[in-house]
Amino acid sequence: MKNTKPVLWAGRLVDRPDAEAFAFQASINIDKRLVFDDIEGSRAHAAMLGKQGILSAETTAALDAELLNIASEIKSGKLVIDDSAEDIHSFIEGILTARLGDAGRSVHAGRSRNDQVALDIRLYLKRRIPGIQSGIDAVVNTLLDIAGRHTESIMPGYTHLQRAQCVTLGFYLCAWACALRRDQRRFTDALTRFDECPLGAGALAGSSLPLDREATAGALGFSGPTLNAMDSIADRDFALELASDCAIVQTHLSRFCEDIALWSSEEFKFIDLAEAWSTGSSIMPQKKNPDFAELIRGKAGRTTGNMVTLFTLLKGLPYAYNKDLQEDKEALFDSLDTVEMCLRMFRGMMADARFNTKRMAEAAAGGFLEATDAAEYLVRKGLPFRSAHEAAALLVRDCITAGQNSISCRSLAELKKHSPLFEEDVYALLSPSACVNSRRLLGGAAPEEVRRQIACLRN
Ligand code: ARG
Repeated sequence: MKNTKPVLWAGRLVDRPDAEAFAFQASINIDKRLVFDDIEGSRAHAAMLGKQGILSAETTAALDAELLNIASEIKSGKLVIDDSAEDIHSFIEGILTARLGDAGRSVHAGRSRNDQVALDIRLYLKRRIPGIQSGIDAVVNTLLDIAGRHTESIMPGYTHLQRAQCVTLGFYLCAWACALRRDQRRFTDALTRFDECPLGAGALAGSSLPLDREATAGALGFSGPTLNAMDSIADRDFALELASDCAIVQTHLSRFCEDIALWSSEEFKFIDLAEAWSTGSSIMPQKKNPDFAELIRGKAGRTTGNMVTLFTLLKGLPYAYNKDLQEDKEALFDSLDTVEMCLRMFRGMMADARFNTKRMAEAAAGGFLEATDAAEYLVRKGLPFRSAHEAAALLVRDCITAGQNSISCRSLAELKKHSPLFEEDVYALLSPSACVNSRRLLGGAAPEEVRRQIACLRN
């Protein structure tokens, strides 16, 4: 069965793809979310055509009124986007033509769907990115609220998943917040780079009509028009960049969630996720599973996949427009949607979680996490670090042989066997809280330093 819908490219082609083939090459189901951006772009374009004398004042006014009308009908639900249209650009132009006749038929002067879609995606992203950034901001603030309550809550910090040195929960959460603040700024960087208006680039080569590209760029809130028409419609590196930015945020969330899943295990028991942020098992009645954390972690696969999709799509694509580019939106939109939703889920899950500070403190005691501090004690007394490291290592060995779980278990005489520089004052410096408190340097885990980090991360 042939598709007999009016298409923007009728005329040259007598024969038509059949219905299934037409649907295959259509993108309306993906690009319909650009509807308001498409309308905004058309309004700016029509107004400019009017100012330049390419369209009459009446035509321009009729187009503007009808575009506004279409927008409000779509918002109210009176006009439903036709899923069998080819794409959102054809749909809007089709409605304009059906309602206004020749005025509708004149809106596309000096324009191509190639610059139209390049514009629409940019407008959409400019609208959408602040929401993602405020999602990141909300997560950071939730983490900092928790961190602020736990600047003194001792826990082990890990390397190689082995207990390494004492830190605090507040310090740990600040580390996550640092990563997210960079993510937030990364989106701003991307925004500044693609803040140029492609409208007027046409299919690839601009137009012989006297278009005012400065005017449309200004009206649409861009810093200016793009420099080169062909680049304007061929470029999708903003999509690569944003998909990468999304993949980075999602990878961060995924890593945090890996910790959450570990911490909620019986083996760690550092965190007690709220029941509302857990699920049970269909067979094992006792189960309380960290499914939300796991799913957020799992969705990093999607965002990385979307990024790879876009890189693969563009690699080897000849200049300028090719229909392959239509595939850009699904991957990019999915990444934006995924990240936005995961940020909301992660924030809620963290806000309602309870931390088992007793268990964390227990885990920080008795595993020789003070060994580095013992070595640094000797460094402060003048010993070269390598010798101090060796002395502390031998002390740990002595403890293990004697069945002791902390360097403080050794008598001063036993300590002095490995270094005469040890004095009575060392014992006061080896407790978990003393170890944490002594790391007051910039970036350290001492409570007052973590409070400073929290304050920096707040804005
Ligand atoms: N739906 C198309 C896309 O998303 C719009 C541009 C179509 N241009 C073309 N020359 N067929 O890329």
